[in-house]
Amino acid sequence: MCKRRFQRSKAYDVDKLFNFSIQDKMAKCKLHHMKLVLAVNISFIFATILYLPMVYHHEHVSPPVSQPNFVSRFDPRYISNLDISWEEIKKVIWTIPGNKKFHEIGLLNLNKIETNHWKQLIHNLDHVVLHLDYAEKNVTWDTLYPEWIDEEQEYGIPICQSLPKIEEPKKQLDLIIVKLPCRDYKANWSRDVARLHLQLAAAQLAVSKQVLSGNSHREAYATILHSAHVYVCGAIAAARSIQMTGSTRDLIILIDETTSKYHRSELEAAGWKIRTIQRIRNPKAEKNAYNEWNYSKFRLWQLTDYDKIIFIDADLLVLRNIDFLFSMPEISATGNHGMLFNSGVMVIEPSNCTFQLLMDHVTEIDSYNGGDQGYLNEIFTWWHRIPKHMNFLKHFWIGDNEAVKEKKTKLFGADPPILYVLHYVGSKPWMCFRDYDCNWNVDFMQEYASDVAHEKWWKVHDEMPGELQQFCMLRTKQKMQLEWDRRFAEKWKYADGHWRRKVEDPRLKKCVDKVCLWEGHVTALGGD
Ligand SMILES: *[C@@H]1O[C@H](CO)[C@@H](O)[C@H](O)[C@H]1NC(C)=O
Ligand SMILES: *[C@@H]1O[C@H](CO)[C@@H](O)[C@H](O)[C@H]1NC(C)=O
Ligand SMILES: *[C@@H]1O[C@H](CO)[C@@H](O)[C@H](O)[C@H]1NC(C)=O
Ligand SMILES: *[C@@H]1O[C@H](CO)[C@@H](O)[C@H](O)[C@H]1NC(C)=O
Repeated sequence: MCKRRFQRSKAYDVDKLFNFSIQDKMAKCKLHHMKLVLAVNISFIFATILYLPMVYHHEHVSPPVSQPNFVSRFDPRYISNLDISWEEIKKVIWTIPGNKKFHEIGLLNLNKIETNHWKQLIHNLDHVVLHLDYAEKNVTWDTLYPEWIDEEQEYGIPICQSLPKIEEPKKQLDLIIVKLPCRDYKANWSRDVARLHLQLAAAQLAVSKQVLSGNSHREAYATILHSAHVYVCGAIAAARSIQMTGSTRDLIILIDETTSKYHRSELEAAGWKIRTIQRIRNPKAEKNAYNEWNYSKFRLWQLTDYDKIIFIDADLLVLRNIDFLFSMPEISATGNHGMLFNSGVMVIEPSNCTFQLLMDHVTEIDSYNGGDQGYLNEIFTWWHRIPKHMNFLKHFWIGDNEAVKEKKTKLFGADPPILYVLHYVGSKPWMCFRDYDCNWNVDFMQEYASDVAHEKWWKVHDEMPGELQQFCMLRTKQKMQLEWDRRFAEKWKYADGHWRRKVEDPRLKKCVDKVCLWEGHVTALGGD
């Protein structure tokens, strides 16, 4: 649901937040969701007043919690000190399709005064006051989203914190109303345990009577091509790797009009179904910056002929079948750092409404890295964690000791594979000599170097039809660059010694450019 995704950053301007256009938008998102619920023939309608913040209008001078009889009963984490605009709520409810057939309304987290007020306001319907135990005090955002989890269970079995479940009422509810805590405009307002707990509890109740099952025809893998000449080969290998895991889901690739016909036909030959998109500019990026067009990824949400998409970056290999991820909710992803997820592998649920929401805030929300990952992490502050093996970065951290490095190398090379997805961050295998990973040639890139992972990629390459392999040729300029870097490593006698290898990559002898001579030029550039 879009409204759940609507999360302000401190940069928001209050008037803007509460204006009608956003409220209208939220109402629209809601309608969209209603249709979905009705489409599966469930009369149970979920309409948390999650957009209550939109209809709160001014701060209450004396918050309802200060009423003596509530002080002891209420946990401050669950209390909002903002007043409710009852008339707005009433209006919104009357816009929900099927509202005439409502009988039972569930109320969650409203205090006695609010409950009574509500009953008077909508007196012709039955109300059920829902009960939810508060989360333990030791449940914090940091414990829900720890930076690191002992996924391999080396030191023990990690403990998953749990939040109390809502008691299911005996009666069938038509609508659930939840009052969410609203921490004014404080930082981290959207990373709030009570807020998360209340929304999850209401959502769980709303879907508890539904049988959710996926339709594999409405599920697809998708990627986006940023730069044709760098990534076509990677995308072809990625498609190949998915097919090799036995998946038969559609493969969708988003490309823009700058991709040539020639490349399009080859991507199609590799199994990708092409969708031509208009790129989306990050208004905060510098002109011609590497991340200027990264927001194009939002177009994934416009693939509304699919219910679920597993997005994968074009620079990774799927080593084991990950179709089971289609049963996971938006956004399922692996951890990146801190409380944030990595946007290289994500389960998403296409929705025009979510797309619009993403677009509407590009000028307001700051992305910590200027890319889509930082932006998406501000919108989807609650995400569903999947194990690191489903998006394993080919990367050795500074702190990795020899034992850790060895373990990672084993994972990269394991046959049959242990990892589900291996993500080739750093210089790409097809942009290197096949003899060794060219990340070795540059000192600050060595943390990305792994000959074992490099070999793994080339194995997939070698199983591609020859016709597709021609997209993995080295351009003359790239050959020069590689040789330049190799000589530099030689000059400084890098300890790994890869520069000593006699490069035998057959691609060195094949030329795909107009200018084919390059060896003399490297020396001329002073590479000796
Ligand atoms: C939080 O507290 C409860 C009991 O109050 C305890 O059972 C649980 O293990 C604690 N969780 C953590 C992560 O400390
Ligand atoms: C937001 O929360 C995180 C994790 O709890 C914390 O590290 C960070 O300092 C918080 N930011 C602010 C501005 O409070
Ligand atoms: C989403 O919008 C596109 C047009 O931008 C439209 O073709 C498509 O039908 C819409 N999808 C849904 C589910 O409304
Ligand atoms: C942005 O897109 C470029 C490709 O154009 C990619 O190399 C880069 O990793 C992306 N950056 C972020 C931060 O997502």
